[in-house]
Amino acid sequence: MPTNPADHAPAITAEEFYRRAVERDQSPVPEFLSESRPFEGDHYQVDIERFISPDYHKREVEHLWKHVWQATCREEEVANPGDVYVYDVATLQFLIVRTESGAIKAYPNSCLHRGRQLVDCNKRVTQLRCPFHAFTWSLDGRIASIPSAWDFSYIDDPDHWTLPEVKVGTWGGFVFINPDKDAGPLEEFLGDLDRHFERYPLDDRYIAAHARKIVPCNWKIAQEAFLETFHILGTHPQLLPQASHTDMKYDCYENYSRTVGTYYTPHVYTGFDPTEQEILDSVADRRQDDPDRTMPLAEGETARQHMARLAREGYERATGESSEGLSTSELIDISFMSVFPNFHPWTLFTRICYLFRPYKDDPDRSWMDIYQIMPVKKGEPRPAPAPVRLLSDHEDWTAAEDLSPYLGRIANQDAFNFGPIQQGMKASQIGVLNYSRYQESRIRHFHTLLDTWIKD
Ligand code: FES
Ligand SMILES: [Fe+2]
Repeated sequence: MPTNPADHAPAITAEEFYRRAVERDQSPVPEFLSESRPFEGDHYQVDIERFISPDYHKREVEHLWKHVWQATCREEEVANPGDVYVYDVATLQFLIVRTESGAIKAYPNSCLHRGRQLVDCNKRVTQLRCPFHAFTWSLDGRIASIPSAWDFSYIDDPDHWTLPEVKVGTWGGFVFINPDKDAGPLEEFLGDLDRHFERYPLDDRYIAAHARKIVPCNWKIAQEAFLETFHILGTHPQLLPQASHTDMKYDCYENYSRTVGTYYTPHVYTGFDPTEQEILDSVADRRQDDPDRTMPLAEGETARQHMARLAREGYERATGESSEGLSTSELIDISFMSVFPNFHPWTLFTRICYLFRPYKDDPDRSWMDIYQIMPVKKGEPRPAPAPVRLLSDHEDWTAAEDLSPYLGRIANQDAFNFGPIQQGMKASQIGVLNYSRYQESRIRHFHTLLDTWIKD
């Protein structure tokens, strides 16, 4: 059994840890941030099959992706009439289209003639014209032109050539679709998610960076790396002095879950007692030849106080608004949210949003998207959204020019595990994964939800 004193269970709960940190800040947080919703379910062990089996992958497509609300793109990516965004999930593909009237519609990306995909990439068009035989639809899905219509005179149903519509909803500036025509409204699915974002609305943000990569593991494996901070010790050891990841709060709600944790409070595994200056210095990863980013602390100042000061200045510069109503924790700490099944809009001011999707019919690969969304400065026009930067297999996340290099390096550390996890699971003889009680409770919550969708 473990002998390292740091392996003992924390003396206080994560809820208490957070409460004390906020108390030391003398900057109270709103109640929803400090509340606790520990997960009460099980799913401590999950079959490896669900990550590697082509059969399970097919069942996910049939029972989950064809029926669940899913985030596709930002509204600003289809800002103008005729803007089309191509959304892929597994082998399904949909077009998200801004119509002349300003409405957003979604259609399966499949021509009603002989099935060619109607649009091959994101673009602006006046009509949806199939490149194969030139059947053409208006943006609102009505047929506009049937070449050699006389040759199809056997079809007399007036709706036969109307593009089938897929349900659309919006939340926080993101466009969601649901391919199931009998699905309930998006608002019902999201439940009370809004109360976590009222103070940090995502609608008023713009895409400063958007990178996408096909990663060598199942979409759930990629996602699970962002549902816990347990892996900091093995994967991101440089972060140990700057955040107590074992003391983060894991809260599970209906269709979403979150982690709330403090920064600039050292991890129990740090191995030494860092000074406040050392805590601050660890924000820069020195192994990566960073230019000297040392920020000297003022006499008697803590790293949290220093960062709070910088964060207030940064917030006011970026938004053009006062930060007075915001607490220290809201400005400098971390709260990462995930909405079932695959959407991770972080709250507070961390700017990050992840999306994880199965790649075609391959359970061993997935699409991973990283967005950085920035506040639109008060009184200024919304900047144009950064285009999607598709990274090749040989490029790592730091190759995405718009993405913050810091985030790119962290993502590279996570991605370093992806292929070896997928391969290692295939070598397993025990056939199950073992999730921890608390730190991996959000993953157990996810699998509990997943089981309510996937039928035999
Ligand atoms: S397949 Fe689209 S026009 Fe023929
Ligand atoms: Fe990570």
